Amino acid sequence: MEYDIADQSLAELGHRRIEWATRRMPVLGAIRERFERDKPLADVTIGACMHVTTETANLMLVLRAGGARVALCASNPLSTQDDVAAALVDAGVPVFAIRGEDSETFYRHINAVLDSKPDLVFDDGADMTTVLHEQRSDQPIVGGMEETTTGVIRLRAMAADNVLRFPMVAVNDSDTKHLFDNRHGTGQSSLDGILRAANILFAGRTVVVAGYGDCGLGIAQRADGLGAKVIVVESNPVRALSAAMDGHRVMTTHEAAPLGDVFITATGDIHVFRREHFEVMKDGAILANAGHFDVEIDLAVLSEMADSYRELRDNLGEYTLADGRRLLVVAEGRLVNLGAAEGHPADVMDMSFADQALAAEWLKDHGPSLEPKVYVLPRELDHEVARLKLESMGGGLEILTDEQIEYLKSWRHGT
Ligand code: NAI
Repeated sequence: MEYDIADQSLAELGHRRIEWATRRMPVLGAIRERFERDKPLADVTIGACMHVTTETANLMLVLRAGGARVALCASNPLSTQDDVAAALVDAGVPVFAIRGEDSETFYRHINAVLDSKPDLVFDDGADMTTVLHEQRSDQPIVGGMEETTTGVIRLRAMAADNVLRFPMVAVNDSDTKHLFDNRHGTGQSSLDGILRAANILFAGRTVVVAGYGDCGLGIAQRADGLGAKVIVVESNPVRALSAAMDGHRVMTTHEAAPLGDVFITATGDIHVFRREHFEVMKDGAILANAGHFDVEIDLAVLSEMADSYRELRDNLGEYTLADGRRLLVVAEGRLVNLGAAEGHPADVMDMSFADQALAAEWLKDHGPSLEPKVYVLPRELDHEVARLKLESMGGGLEILTDEQIEYLKSWRHGT
């Protein structure tokens, strides 16, 4: 078996951490039992480009339990957990991922997974899908799954340009994904990343959150819960208003730049914080990015403006500007929760990856007859994942009476 990982001797640690994550993923566990019994993915080859974390490892093992052959590479150069990569290789899954790999290695690894001739691809950010369109456009693919908002935006742009050549399921758009993973997962784990890197007290600090989508909303809520004064920057008027009514101050990046102690981007956009903002930020301000790509903070310009740079602590880089002010950047401006912490807790990835596993099964059955478009997971599967998760948490779901069902369906009743 071919693979490329950092250190095989880390496998034992990886196995223990995967076990801990797996215990907190009961919905995926239920799917695994059915997959083991029915083998719905027999003879399917899967190529995955995802964050190499304990939760992803569990997903890979569940897909394999369903009969699939799987190979995995990283969807971000800094999010790979090397012990997890080693444990997966130990379990017989080919992994091509090394934490901190350079861009050339990153793409070599994507190509190595594609060399396994997958029928289905699992993508997170659409890099693998893009390689399949730009460099390997002859390679046949039944379809794929996309995990994150930025990837879905790229796929929809490909579909709009009429270049998407196979069906993709926007797993991110399932309610049981974005309303929980993006909000609660990114909300908590982004702050976890900043805490591990900088160990600051949030209480009393001014935290500027850029973007009030599902991720930004979750981050703002959690920062508020820790006692921070939250400022939101948003370009969509409805979301900006929603932030204002949730109790946050809403202002422009220019107004917020001199006020923030901590800046967190979650927009999926480019250069949200740039030269004119760095020029007025306080000495000691901390910048972190929770969005998919490392382009939200203009680090090229910050490097240009800086007289010196040093790694002050693990995952905390310090730029000293000509006027003596120091600006600190967490995890090189890459996904802060995966670069400086362990990503989302398993409890919430349980749902995202249950959606992924069900999407793979659905695509395997329906893919050949689907058009090359972006699809969402059927609503009944989305609801089934929510029902199972609620059940695992001990929550009871109200069952409507026949009279109620009839009433809600009818337009004939009035005052
Ligand atoms: P979203 O599209 O729901 O929200 C993004 C918000 O940013 C929108 O409301 C948009 O109007 C706003 N925005 C865009 N450009 C802006 C700018 N220049 N200034 C201020 N606001 C701006 O997206 P979602 O789901 O919240 O995801 C955000 C990013 O986080 C994406 O890149 C996504 O892929 C990534 N993501 C990261 C995760 C992680 O583990 N760190 C998990 C899930 C998503």
